[in-house]
Amino acid sequence: PTIHVITPTYSRPVQKAELTRLANTLLHVPNLHWILVEDSQRRTPLVTRMLRETGLNYTHLNVETPHNYKLRGDMRDPRIPRGTMQRNLALRWLRETFNKNNSESGIVYFADDDNTYSLELFEEMRTTRKVSVWPVAFAGGLRYESPKVNAVGKVYGWKTVFDPHRPFAIDMAGFAVNLRLILQRSQAYFKFRGVKGGYQESSLLRELVTLNDLEPKAANCTKILVWHTRTEKPLLVNEGNEGFTDPSVEI
Ligand code: UGA
Ligand code: MN
Repeated sequence: PTIHVITPTYSRPVQKAELTRLANTLLHVPNLHWILVEDSQRRTPLVTRMLRETGLNYTHLNVETPHNYKLRGDMRDPRIPRGTMQRNLALRWLRETFNKNNSESGIVYFADDDNTYSLELFEEMRTTRKVSVWPVAFAGGLRYESPKVNAVGKVYGWKTVFDPHRPFAIDMAGFAVNLRLILQRSQAYFKFRGVKGGYQESSLLRELVTLNDLEPKAANCTKILVWHTRTEKPLLVNEGNEGFTDPSVEI
């Protein structure tokens, strides 16, 4: 199957660095299609060029998150959903592009632009029948968060401190979905409004599966194959008000 990797991204000083790092990972993955969705009014020249130069198989989309959703409070406030509209646009694109009845086999994975992905992860998710799950490092204030897996390989709960009673207490980076299921449940999207912090993933997954359907990967969720890394914001204090360096040089 083709792995459709959905990545929301937005303009900031580290954007090109993040996308370069992610592209370098994805270049090692066979049979991959990258759906990069810019959080912007239009597709930017920086991302357009960058994508073209990678040689990856990609689709470049854009949708801007309304400002009233973005500018509220602290950037790290977990109640402000980041990348939600972008992921939903990619889901719509998949449904418009692939017919429910055709046999096009695929896997859908939501890969944020700043995380760290092992190549093994992509091999693990390739065999997803409905929804597969695995641990994610550096999520929820722990070294890693993980699904709880019993002796017969069934997921029965969540090893998390932050609200383990969520229907699916899992980070965006911790699951993949079979494309067929995305096409069948054509009304399933991430909820944008009225979703409590940490419930975004659940808002989609509850439309697709039950706990009982989940397929644990990564050696029954005992191996870490993805890290929820976050890039430090570079200090650009010496740029001054006018900008010291040549603004025509793309970074
Ligand atoms: C955590 C989760 O890992 C995210 O999947 C989830 O979207 C997010 O919380 C949330 O619920 O808000 P975190 O590291 O805090 O992730 O979020 P970011 O990495 O800053 O953003 C997630 C994705 O959305 C990134 O790919 C980022 O480029 C994109 N994004 C972020 C936008 O497209 N627009 C923005 O304004 C901010
Ligand atoms: Mn992140």
